[in-house]
Amino acid sequence: MRRLLFLFMILVTSLSACNKVVVEANYNIIPLPQTIEMVEGEPFILDSLVTVTYDTGNKGIANVAGFLTGYIEQAVGHRLSHTSVQENSLKKTICLKINDDIQHPEGYRLEVDSINITIEGADEAGLFYGVQTLRKSIPVVNKTAIVVFSAVKIEDYPRFAYRGMMLDVSRHFWTVDFIKRYIDILALHNINKFHMHLTEDQGWRIEIKSYPKLTQVGSKRKETIKGFITGEYDNTPHGGFYTQEELKDIVQYAAQRYIEVIPEVDLPGHMLAALASYPELGCTGGPYEVATKWGIHSDVLCGGNEKTYEFLEKVFTEIFEIFPSQYIHIGGDECPKTRWKECPKCQAKIKLLGLVDDKDYTKESKLQSHMTHRLEKFISSRGRKLVGWDEIIEGGLAPNATVMSWRGEKGAQIAARMGRDIIMAPNSHLYFDYYQTENTKTEPPAFPETNTMEEVYNFNPIPGGLTEEEAKHIIGVQANLWVEQIKEESHVEYMLLPRLAALAEIQWKNDVNKDYPDFLKRTERFISLYNKLGYNFSAAAFEPSASFIEDTEKKTLKIELSTPDNADIFYTLDGSLPTQKSKRYTEPVLLAGKGAIKARAYRSNELIDNNLYVQDYTVNKTTLRNVELLTDVSRYFQPPGGKAVLTDGRRGNDCHVFSYTTAWLGFSGKMVAVVDLDEEQEISSVVAGTLLVPNSKGAKYTISVSKDGKEYTEVFSEHKLFNALDDLNADVKNTRARYVKVEIEADNYAHVLVDEIIIE
Ligand code: ACM
Ligand code: ZN
Repeated sequence: MRRLLFLFMILVTSLSACNKVVVEANYNIIPLPQTIEMVEGEPFILDSLVTVTYDTGNKGIANVAGFLTGYIEQAVGHRLSHTSVQENSLKKTICLKINDDIQHPEGYRLEVDSINITIEGADEAGLFYGVQTLRKSIPVVNKTAIVVFSAVKIEDYPRFAYRGMMLDVSRHFWTVDFIKRYIDILALHNINKFHMHLTEDQGWRIEIKSYPKLTQVGSKRKETIKGFITGEYDNTPHGGFYTQEELKDIVQYAAQRYIEVIPEVDLPGHMLAALASYPELGCTGGPYEVATKWGIHSDVLCGGNEKTYEFLEKVFTEIFEIFPSQYIHIGGDECPKTRWKECPKCQAKIKLLGLVDDKDYTKESKLQSHMTHRLEKFISSRGRKLVGWDEIIEGGLAPNATVMSWRGEKGAQIAARMGRDIIMAPNSHLYFDYYQTENTKTEPPAFPETNTMEEVYNFNPIPGGLTEEEAKHIIGVQANLWVEQIKEESHVEYMLLPRLAALAEIQWKNDVNKDYPDFLKRTERFISLYNKLGYNFSAAAFEPSASFIEDTEKKTLKIELSTPDNADIFYTLDGSLPTQKSKRYTEPVLLAGKGAIKARAYRSNELIDNNLYVQDYTVNKTTLRNVELLTDVSRYFQPPGGKAVLTDGRRGNDCHVFSYTTAWLGFSGKMVAVVDLDEEQEISSVVAGTLLVPNSKGAKYTISVSKDGKEYTEVFSEHKLFNALDDLNADVKNTRARYVKVEIEADNYAHVLVDEIIIE
């Protein structure tokens, strides 16, 4: 290494003498190649004199060569020429070949010496990934530059054959141009499956010629709910669909980048847009309307009507013509059986098929399974493979079906034991519509759960308890990007990047010794490329994270800040934005009174140094005191901290109307809580941080006090009108109390979420 460094210094000195920018390639990219062997020898100098040589008569290799020269021109400004033969062996070349001796499909070998960079692929896709590796090893510069590639031997291949990323194009519609940009991003990450979620309750997005109303009616909704469950609507129509020609163009664009597009028609649930178009396909016959709110809808395709089966076969027949993919996704998730239980046609079909309830499954679940079995036969008969969400296991898994496991590992374990293939896409780690940080205050809207980049990186795709043989059925990994809360293209990119880098790493590399700080370093470099390519990204993974240190004896609260790579952290407590002139973090910070701690990590990189960690806090008479709840906690809003969140000093965030983070405790309609102040004392105010979900007009706020915890006297009661979020404030000057009972009763049975009870 020392010798190389020396050579590099000489080169830099001699080349910079002629005023050229010189940069050194770094092979520690994402995904990290399986093996990188630095070898003895002079480096390869990439400048405008290098030619790209390959068998120019081979269309596939020419395709890859086109990408290579495009990437190099984009990266360092040299437009390299192509030749079919190497005219002069002393001329520097980048040589592209297929080599049948490379065993791993999609694998490649990349060798650098002073005269040649040779990339050999097991196949065209392998060659393409070799080119991606070369491209990603070039540091980002914004000028024409000469690149020094140290002599190296890289042997590389993917761990999983299925490396997927899903995009929901139904909850919000995306243009063809944006879909192509998304595909480019996937290619940059060596992803080879693009799963398009084409149909939903809220919109049908694929032209089907035999059922034209699917797009005439089903592709438009009249308005959209704001947030998740606010009950408020935006009064703005939303719609859009892809013609079959546009989809064929997308398929071809992806294929040039060695990506297969997998279409999903989600059935028999999530079908309101289709039912609005053809009401005769539903159990009740409608009328139906394209959904304007999120969640699970009871109206689904009728499983008892032969017209449904005819509809599906015709739809899939057209889909086969557009998408040459091996896999065809039939959804299968979240299908309530409410209508099927009441529907004469469904019940008649159940009877005809002899389906009965058993200890595992209802007869209606078995009807869905019957539907999946019929489709599986149909899809297999056309030489394709059915894939569905893990609900397709319920009622009996169809033969040859591949399971996409999204609800944790259980479905995957069952399917693997049955010898069926599985794609891991669990919402515990790989849902990119979730927040990427617990620090949601400065984040754009997201589904109110969190999957941090570190969680993605640390995901182990092989579920526990499988034998080696069973584990072979885990054929791949995929992340999903649902878009209920995402309306802007830049927001899609923000949710995707850089978590996609962590996904790419687990899809590609079988890393037994995971090293997150090292991965974060590589991500930092990768982000420079995102930035150069104009992709939006999140720097949340680089911000400090915090944990609270509670001293329950002394009733003191400290906050501990850290980053995985021990970056410098600076913070303020006075509300100002931290800079490198603020206080440097060295030890846990004692919190007192109320305020906000704001912190930033610095790594001398303006692309990631802007991310701000903010936590509002309050230390008061209730802090770390015991609370007793007299109403039940709602099953929807149960933070891991339980009732202690009401007096833990952490304020919840108010972003985006409905942002459930771990700081909020929720009750259905009403909260009654008693705080024990440990001893009788004078109090002057009782504040409760309150969020009503969905928005209701307001709430009644009542405070009673007691000295013994038995006899209570009401000291304050008021009905307050407010919009979703407020600090309810009771002025109770000159009151003496040990026990303080706080009651909040929402109008219209809304959920009452409380982050903190604050007594001064
Ligand atoms: C899903 O997230 N409903 C597959
Ligand atoms: Zn029915």
